[in-house]
Parts: sequence; structure tokens; C-alpha cells
Amino acid sequence: MTPKPYTHRDAVPYRPLDWTGVYPPAYDRGTVPNHVAIVMDGNGRWANRRGLTRIEGHKAGEAALLDVVAGGIQAGVKHLSVYAFSTENWSRSPDEVRFLMGYNRDVLHRRRDQLNEWGVRIRWAGRKPRLWSSVIKELQYAEQLTAGNDALTLTMCVNYGGRIEIVDAMRSIADDVAAGRLKPSAVSEKLIQRRLYRPDMPDVDLFLRSSGEQRTSNFLLWESAYAEFVFLDTLWPDFTRADLWRGIDVYLGRERRFGGAVDEPARG
Ligand code: IPE
Ligand code: IPE
Ligand code: MG
Repeated sequence: MTPKPYTHRDAVPYRPLDWTGVYPPAYDRGTVPNHVAIVMDGNGRWANRRGLTRIEGHKAGEAALLDVVAGGIQAGVKHLSVYAFSTENWSRSPDEVRFLMGYNRDVLHRRRDQLNEWGVRIRWAGRKPRLWSSVIKELQYAEQLTAGNDALTLTMCVNYGGRIEIVDAMRSIADDVAAGRLKPSAVSEKLIQRRLYRPDMPDVDLFLRSSGEQRTSNFLLWESAYAEFVFLDTLWPDFTRADLWRGIDVYLGRERRFGGAVDEPARG
């Protein structure tokens, strides 16, 4: 039997970073957001609008992810965190959940060498309970394989929830306090950060969401306390590196104040 031709949009072959021949604008030094977080949303709507099942929409998202990672490296983004499966996504149909689990595992398996070639350090943020062990294994393998890379850190947020991340941090602190290893007065923002899933993850600078939805859906709550939020209408399967750069442009037009203020009467 001849194998079915591999026609899907996810069939992106291994390529150099700049295979599309498009390049980001020349950003001023030091202005590009260091950490971009992306809620990859809109797969289901993209598929349903074409008369396809939601699962076909997820499959089409693989190419978008690869393109955006490449565009992130080109732009000089150092940390890219992507929401792949939330702790709330377990409420979807068993078929969709099963597909998403297998799909996350397979995408990591298929793409780790390409990402490694590009110098991407892959990491996982999320919790173990309920997550398929085959997914955890792929995440851990990819982490080991790419541990020495520094072009861009790609954090795959799988079985991730912002509130439960804070709960998990609180539990570990409470354990230490109860055991007398830690004084309550030693609990600080820094200490809490050190108990998050990825203690060295920097704060999010640009929080980007596709598909027009304007909410966080529990993504990187602690880390995004001072992020700039940009919502683009593009559905995730249509998303490209150019959309990432468009998001960066909007970000660059924002004034980040971090609670400070400068008196500038002339500007009104
Ligand atoms: C995002 O697309 C992917 C995941 C949540 C895994 P959706 O599946 O949420 O697509 P919409 O929002 O229903 O269009
Ligand atoms: C957030 O999208 C989760 C991921 C992209 C993995 P959802 O589609 O699940 O979020 P809601 O339901 O619109 O809030
Ligand atoms: Mg959605």
C-alpha cells in the first residue's frame, strides 16, 4: 500500500531559519521584548470555518509555531513561552483531549532536531498530574537535547495554569514554614518567584494572543504582572512570523511606566 501523501499544512520540512525570505524590521538596540508569551488560540474556529473538525485546526497550528519561533529568533526575542494546553483544557471532549496529548508529544518528537539546529532551548512549564507520561518524556528529552542552546528559550506550557502554578509555589513555601525551615517574614516576591515552575523565567514583556479573544485564560499570571497585552485577530493556524513582528511593533509604540511617572507639561 502506498502511504497517503503528506499534504497537510503541518508538513513543514526542515529548513533554515529564514526560509521565507522575509526579515524583521531593523529594531533599535535593546528595544525588542526579551520575553514574548503567546496564547495560540483560534484553531477550532479556523477549522470549523472551513468545514473541518477542530482537530484539523490543531494540526494546522504546527506550521504557525515553527514560523513564529523562527521569526522570534530573527527579531532577537530571547524567551518565547507558548500556551499549548491549559489546566482548563481537560474539560474538552475526550477525543480532543486525547488528540491534543498525542499531538503535543508528536510535535516535540518531529521538531526537536529542527529546533535544536536553530539553537533553540526547549523547556516545559506545567504540572505532572494528569499529563500523559509520554508527553512528559518527550518534553524531558527535548529539554536535555537542547539544554546547551541559547538562541532562544522556547517554553512549552503544557498542562499549565497560572493560578495552580501559584498554588504549587505556596504549598512548597507552606511546607518549609511548617517544617521550621523558613520564617513567614522571609516570604517575598523573589522567594515566590523561585518556587514557580521555571524560577529563572524572566517577566513577560509582550503578552500576545491570536484569534481576537481578549483575556489571559490563566496564562503566566504572576509573570505577566507588567506585560504589555496585544490582541491580534488572526487565527493561530494563519499566524506567521509577520504577525509576531506586528505584535512587536504595537509593543514598541507603548509607553511602559511600571508605576512611575514623568512630568512632561508640553506633551499634554
Ligand atoms: C487553541 O485553539 C488551541 C488549544 C486551546 C489547545 P482552540 O482549540 O481554543 O480554538 P478556538 O478558540 O476554539 O477557535
Ligand atoms: C487558552 O485558550 C489555552 C491555550 C491556547 C492552550 P482557550 O481557547 O482554551 O481559552 P478560552 O477557553 O477561550 O478562555
Ligand atoms: Mg480557544
